[in-house]
Parts: sequence; C-alpha cells; structure tokens
Amino acid sequence: MQLYEDLLELVGNTPLVRLKTGIPENGPRVYVKLEFLNPTGSVKDRMVLHVVRKAIQDGRIKPGDTVIDNTSGNTGSSIGMVAARYGLRAIVVTPEKTSQEKVDLIRSYGAEVIVTPTERAHDDPEGCYQVARRLAKEHGYFDIDQYNSQENVESHYIGTGPEIWEQTEGQLTHFVCGIGTGGTFSGTAKFLKEQNPEIQCIAVDPEGSVFTDYIRTKEVVEGYDYMVEGIGSDVVTDALYPDLVDEVITISDKDSFNRARLIARTEGICGGGSSGSVAVAIEQVASQLDSRALVIGVFADAGIRYLSKCFNDNWMRKHGYLTTT
Ligand SMILES: Cc1ncc(COP(=O)(O)O)c(C=O)c1O
Repeated sequence: MQLYEDLLELVGNTPLVRLKTGIPENGPRVYVKLEFLNPTGSVKDRMVLHVVRKAIQDGRIKPGDTVIDNTSGNTGSSIGMVAARYGLRAIVVTPEKTSQEKVDLIRSYGAEVIVTPTERAHDDPEGCYQVARRLAKEHGYFDIDQYNSQENVESHYIGTGPEIWEQTEGQLTHFVCGIGTGGTFSGTAKFLKEQNPEIQCIAVDPEGSVFTDYIRTKEVVEGYDYMVEGIGSDVVTDALYPDLVDEVITISDKDSFNRARLIARTEGICGGGSSGSVAVAIEQVASQLDSRALVIGVFADAGIRYLSKCFNDNWMRKHGYLTTT
C-alpha cells in the first residue's frame, strides 16, 4: 500500500522531465523540474511549509495565529494550504495584476485576500509589500516576508538542491532558474556549488525587473512593469544571492508567453508564463553547449493558473503578444 496520512508529505520530490523544444539535435540533455506537481501547483509550497513548520516548532506561532505575506499569487495558495493544515488564519496581499484564477485559488483555501494597485512601488504605503508589513506589525501577525526570508533560501538549500543533485547523480553541468524573491535560485545554487563549484548557475529575469542590472553592476536602477508573473522584482531582495549567479538572462513577456504555449502544444508540458521564460533562457544556454552538458531548469508553476492570460488567445492578441509559432 502507498498511503499518505498528510498532504504535506507530498511537498517536494518533484520529477525531472526531458525538454526538447529549442534544443539542437546534438545539443545538451535538458530536463526541467516540474514544480507544478507540488500540492498547490507551485514551487512555493516548499518555502511556505518550511517557514511555517519551523515557526511552529520554535513556538513562534500556534494554531489560531495569523500568518501574512505579500505575493504575486503562488505563495498565497501555499499559505492557504499550509495554514489550513495547521489551523492557522491566513492573510494574503496581492497586486491587481495577479490572475483571477490565482486569487480565487487562494480564497478557496480559506485565506483572506487583500488586492492592492499593481503599479505601486515597494516603498509605497499603498503597495502590497508595505501593506503586508504594516498589518503584520499592527496586529502581531506572523510575517513570512518571503523576499527577505533566509528560511525561504534554506527551504531550497535543504530540498530543491539536494533533490536535483541526487536525481542527476551529481552529473548536472548547468542550473537555470527564474528569480522572483531569489529563494529558489539562491538555496539551490548554494547547495549545488558546494557539491561542485563548476556547476554554472544561470538566473532568468523578465525585462523591466531590477535584478539583471543589480547582478551585473551592483547598481539598483528604476524598474518598469512587465506581465509575466512570479519572477522579477522592482527592488533588490535579501533572498537573492547575486554572487552565486554566473549569468543572468533577460527574457521578454512576449517570448515567455509564446514559448509556454508552444511547449504545451508540442510536449504536453503546460507550465506558466515564467516556465516559458526559463525555456527560452535554456535555449540560449544550450546553443553554446554540446551533448556532454546536462542542463536542469525549473518550471515553477502550471499553465492552468493563466487560462485568462497567456493561454487565452484574445488576451494575447490584445497585448500584441500573439505570434504564429
Ligand atoms: C511563478 C513563479 N513562482 C516562483 C518562482 C520562484 O521564485 P523565487 O525566486 O521567489 O523562489 C518562479 C521562478 O521561476 C516563478 O516563475
């Protein structure tokens, strides 16, 4: 019998699956880690479970207490799910641009959702980052603060990194991962480089995010709006360890969305828009490599979360993203 008493046992241990789109015949072997197979359908289950479980174990929170964070959506569902399992109250603050499916999903786990204007900056009191911090402070809620949480990084250092190392028997040569808070990239890259410093760790950032310039020059420039969800930032975060980045690749919304759609149609792997970004970055990396290389990418969430966005022809057309490929 293979029976699970607790859904939380199913967080992590996601599979690596071959990706072929955009990879030349004699190019490297490429596999992607399907994080959408976590219980709520995204990589964020790992981080939220680790942070909340640790806080419960340390006595920092107990059943009935409230947890809060700001998120572009995926962390919200994870908070909802984990809070439901541990008898906690959950509040999720999210910007307007978050897809309706994601907001509905968060609510379906019983979490309260506060929607704030998308264009507000990180330090704007009306923006989702500051609203979450203020509510946490005023009411004494447990503040996950994923953008700066070192436990966010740690969840991937003890989970995603070792899993990839074991699944590839230490043979991977390149790791390609989107950066939102930076937690997935930093924790995984830290673990992998400790095993083999030769492993190249490549970060994927959307056009408009401040991370790319920061990684390259340590300067913080003004960001601008982009549509892809889950990656990029308008501020530098403590969960991103820039010194672990060997290369940062910047991808446009249009390329990301069309690639996510193409991979769903040709390979049956239906990731979100940011999986498209990662796949385009992998193609660029792969074009410089031969069959001796083993490239591992991260597909952070599922296309089903974006049925009203990049998987909707009218939405794609309206924003001028639709191409025939
Ligand atoms: C939708 C989505 N969520 C989360 C992540 C990972 O983000 P973080 O850097 O916050 O760990 C990514 C990265 O690709 C993503 O695309």
